[in-house]
Amino acid sequence: MKWEEGLIDSLGWGKDITRREEKEKVAATIAGMVKDGEILGVGSGSTAYLALLKIAERVKEEGLCIQAIPTSLEITMACARLGIPVTGLEGHRPDWTFDGADEIDPYLSLIKGRGGAMFKEKLLISSSPKTFIIADSSKMVSRLGMNFPVPIEIFPQAFTYVEQALKKLSSREINLRMAEGKDGPIITENGNLILDVWFDSIPDTMERDIKQITGVIESGLFMGYKIEILNP
Ligand code: 5RP
Repeated sequence: MKWEEGLIDSLGWGKDITRREEKEKVAATIAGMVKDGEILGVGSGSTAYLALLKIAERVKEEGLCIQAIPTSLEITMACARLGIPVTGLEGHRPDWTFDGADEIDPYLSLIKGRGGAMFKEKLLISSSPKTFIIADSSKMVSRLGMNFPVPIEIFPQAFTYVEQALKKLSSREINLRMAEGKDGPIITENGNLILDVWFDSIPDTMERDIKQITGVIESGLFMGYKIEILNP
């Protein structure tokens, strides 16, 4: 049985989407790659959202039968609005995943997590045989950390301990990500906090070094993952 029309039917992205034209081009490329019967890992952020809209058009027009494994609540809600069935990693492995990024360096290392969903994004990317990172031209950088800090999701009580440990990893600046529309810090979908950490340089060992700190759930550094970049 269907719900009567409600809030969910009018939900959009909620903010202006920067470089929308470029993002729509790669979104269309992703939508064109979807095959009937596939299970797709769906990343978060405006580029992944636009790709989901294009996929939904194909589902409607061609009657494609697909399932999505979303990486965030906003993408789960978008799937509900668009009539795309959702499943989970417990029962299904994605055939492939698509996602956006905040920065991509020449070695295909990434910073992700502006949207705070990096834990589930990393889980999906690690679970997928193949992942396409869809990115407009502003995302390509000569070194990671030029335009974005590295987001690190941490267990709330580990806040001070992790901060001290990150200082020893030669971070330049550490900020607690604050919420908009709520007092205090952002609380992730997993009930944790996010530290946004600026580094002057990010060596190859940094993802592992951060993950080894007790209290760190996951970081937005992606180094050495099986990904392919799709540009407009
Ligand atoms: C969310 C992410 C996004 O993929 C990243 O922030 C890119 O977002 P957008 O497509 O809106 O530029 O990692 O956690």
